[in-house]
Amino acid sequence: IIKTIEQNPVVMIQGETGCGKSTQVPQFILFQHMKYLKHCNIVVTQPRKIAAISVAKRVCAENGWEIGGLCGYQVGLENVSSDHTCLLFCTTGVLLQKLITAKTIDNYTHVILDEVHERSQEMDFTMLTVRKLLREKCPNVKVSFLKGCAGFMFVLLLLLHHITSTIASINELLLHYINKQLQTGDIDVGNNGCVCV
Ligand SMILES: Nc1ncnc2c1ncn2[C@@H]1O[C@H](COP(=O)(O)OP(=O)(O)OP(=O)(O)O)[C@@H](O)[C@H]1O
Ligand SMILES: [Mg+2]
Repeated sequence: IIKTIEQNPVVMIQGETGCGKSTQVPQFILFQHMKYLKHCNIVVTQPRKIAAISVAKRVCAENGWEIGGLCGYQVGLENVSSDHTCLLFCTTGVLLQKLITAKTIDNYTHVILDEVHERSQEMDFTMLTVRKLLREKCPNVKVSFLKGCAGFMFVLLLLLHHITSTIASINELLLHYINKQLQTGDIDVGNNGCVCV
């Protein structure tokens, strides 16, 4: 996962419920950077406040950290983070607001949008904003999408020009899509199961 994220600007990670997408993937990135003493500023969005708080607390509990230190959360007006925070869990709406205000995405080294299959206006606008900022400024930020199940096609189509790699169990829709794209030569399927658009 780390290698794929490092080698591609935009990655989609699909896994079964409870496999560790929300809690483990951000930690993989964080620990990789800590290991090599590299700076990182990771933001992870959750559709709901309760999920953002719960995942942040879980990550802190797993590591024996105090919440709001290395790892914190921001939901609505409640901001439990500090200058030391380099893994922030927030609601999709909070990130959208931050991006609109900053007009840039390069404050972050990694942007992780969780539960992307849950369609909401906020999620759609956040994805569009991320795509726009990536296109206009072309920063080095890494974007990852985490999802559990259906709705894959929409995200693929929305990010068509930016998805460079997908880790996914290939479902019928995707297979259909890939076959179509293979005919036009726009897509390349690696032998490790990754799909490169
Ligand atoms: N607050 C918590 N307390 C106890 N166990 C937890 C807590 N949060 C997560 N876990 C456990 O950690 C594992 C990974 O959870 P995680 O939320 O990262 O999975 P996920 O892949 O994001 O699942 P989903 O697709 O449902 O979002 C699960 O087995 C879950 O039971
Ligand atoms: Mg999750």
